[in-house]
Amino acid sequence: MTRILQITDPHLTIPPAKLCGQVNTLARLRGLVSAIKAAGPAQTPDAVVITGDLSHGGSAQSYALFRKEIERLHLPFYVIPGNHDNREAMRVAFGDAPYLPRAGRLNWATELPNLHLIGLDTLTEGKGSGEIDSQTAAFLSRTLARIGTKPALIAMHHPPFDSGITFMDDIGLKGIERLKTVLANARAPVRIICGHVHNMMVGMVGDTVAISAPSPASSFPVDYRDDAPAGFVTGSGGYMLHEWHGAFRSCAIDLSEAEGPFPFRI
Ligand SMILES: [Fe+2]
Repeated sequence: MTRILQITDPHLTIPPAKLCGQVNTLARLRGLVSAIKAAGPAQTPDAVVITGDLSHGGSAQSYALFRKEIERLHLPFYVIPGNHDNREAMRVAFGDAPYLPRAGRLNWATELPNLHLIGLDTLTEGKGSGEIDSQTAAFLSRTLARIGTKPALIAMHHPPFDSGITFMDDIGLKGIERLKTVLANARAPVRIICGHVHNMMVGMVGDTVAISAPSPASSFPVDYRDDAPAGFVTGSGGYMLHEWHGAFRSCAIDLSEAEGPFPFRI
């Protein structure tokens, strides 16, 4: 069994600056990391993947701050860029990580005991939208061919499905058909995990399940009207656990205040 903990969209700003003048995202990330550490013995993740928007502004200082926090977990961690990230600043900040390529998009693959973890770089610099471009599709195609039937968890920032939130779908993913074509040839069981929409949502791309995760920084109200105003709300945020135990299982961990646990009888 291999269990992956997913954090997405922490949007780090450098104090005293706050996200959109409202949210101390460093404090939010710090709280998230502390909650994960506290839950450690109950959840025992093998590795952590961060699915983009590590930083809100893409500065070297924000990546250094991020690293300092995430390293408190003492777990292997893997990163991919989101639309707010800076690819080259990330490459430098995490340059000692052997999985990151030295040039081009930050696409990577790593083999864990029962699972391949694959990171896809959907960042189109200067834009909010993302893309599975031909280079990334070719990388995924080669990787899936190489791993054969061993299960694969694919991490990418932009979800390959519409969220229904108009202002987010306006900056959604391009190249979905390209991705679908590659996935249709996969022999392995595949699950996609992503971020960007700051909500836990489940969609499909072809026959493959794709799941987006909540952000510790903010959430977007689920407003399906075409003219839904662009805006965010603060929330408790959370993280996700994904595992392969002969089948995929994914669970969202909500960090809102709760009382208990209380004993109960079935
Ligand atoms: Fe984000």
